[in-house]
Amino acid sequence: MHIAIAGGSGFVGGAIAAELARRGEEVVVLSHRPGAARRHLPDAVEVREADATRTESLAAALVGADVLVIAIAHPNYPMENPRRGWTFEAVEAAGTERLVAAATASGVRRFFYVSGAGAAPDAPRHWFRAKWRAEEAVRGSGITFTILRPTWIYGPGDVSLNRFLGFARWLPFVPMTGDGKQLLAPVFIDDVAKLAADALRDRAADDQVFELGGPEVLSMNDVLHTALRIGGRRRPILHAPARLMKLVVWPLQFLPRAPLTPDAVDFVNQPAVVDTAPLLARMPRRLTPLEEGLATYLGRAGDRRQPTRS
Ligand SMILES: NC(=O)c1ccc[n+]([C@@H]2O[C@H](COP(=O)([O-])OP(=O)(O)OC[C@H]3O[C@@H](n4cnc5c(N)ncnc54)[C@H](OP(=O)(O)O)[C@@H]3O)[C@@H](O)[C@H]2O)c1
Repeated sequence: MHIAIAGGSGFVGGAIAAELARRGEEVVVLSHRPGAARRHLPDAVEVREADATRTESLAAALVGADVLVIAIAHPNYPMENPRRGWTFEAVEAAGTERLVAAATASGVRRFFYVSGAGAAPDAPRHWFRAKWRAEEAVRGSGITFTILRPTWIYGPGDVSLNRFLGFARWLPFVPMTGDGKQLLAPVFIDDVAKLAADALRDRAADDQVFELGGPEVLSMNDVLHTALRIGGRRRPILHAPARLMKLVVWPLQFLPRAPLTPDAVDFVNQPAVVDTAPLLARMPRRLTPLEEGLATYLGRAGDRRQPTRS
């Protein structure tokens, strides 16, 4: 099976590409920065140039593909920059629509789309409405699909939990926006990658929309305390009120590559809890508990496992 992965140089798509390559599948990573993507991928993985914001770049990149996995996010996700076209609407929504149209024309027989928990047509936040728009393109294609809506994904290459752990390396405390009481069911990247790889060959995944979270529901504070403990760095968490942080970071949104924006403060503070029962009924599997997942790459047991992202 020839599998093209848009976003295969990223955190989620990279893990899916690595898992598929491990299983002996023929994997092609589509990237709008192929030079940078090439440096971080195994030699066995082919890289082709494809920019989801430019229709004309897509047809050649999809030649021969039987399956298209879509795991794209705009550069500097989740911080947007409308002047550079780095928005949920332009890349996640319109970009997915372009990819689906090009793949349909080129004869792809299956889609796997990485959406997000919370995608809905009437969601209060625009990033979830953009995800819904992308899902609608996949659902309306007439081609067999699986849509995955993961919660908060952690692993060696994530940019969220690892950012907090990075602070712990240099500071006597870990700063966090908000009170950290929002509930999360963090899901391990390996579980996401294995599920994606399984779904491409399992009829039980045909035309399904699955929510995916980890086996435990914890507060953000508990997630971070657990990660700090396993990483061997006990630190207090210093909370900054989200409203104050949004005011403080407001000017940063005008930087070319903002480290944080008011919307991104809301993005990182949102709860992420889902119902995994429908997924587990159709595709039974063990989901990795948080401590077990973290121990594979943090602390002594982790042995410096390398991330798969660029
Ligand atoms: N991380 C999480 O916790 C999480 C949770 C739930 C859902 N998701 C979803 O999973 C998807 C991937 O997230 P991620 O965390 O893996 O993000 P990421 O690491 O930032 O990766 C984003 C990917 O998008 C590609 N990309 C960016 N602009 C592109 C363009 N114009 N054309 C084609 N490809 C483009 C990038 O590749 P190049 O730069 O090489 O082109 C990169 O591979 C997103 O849709 C996100 O909403 C993530």
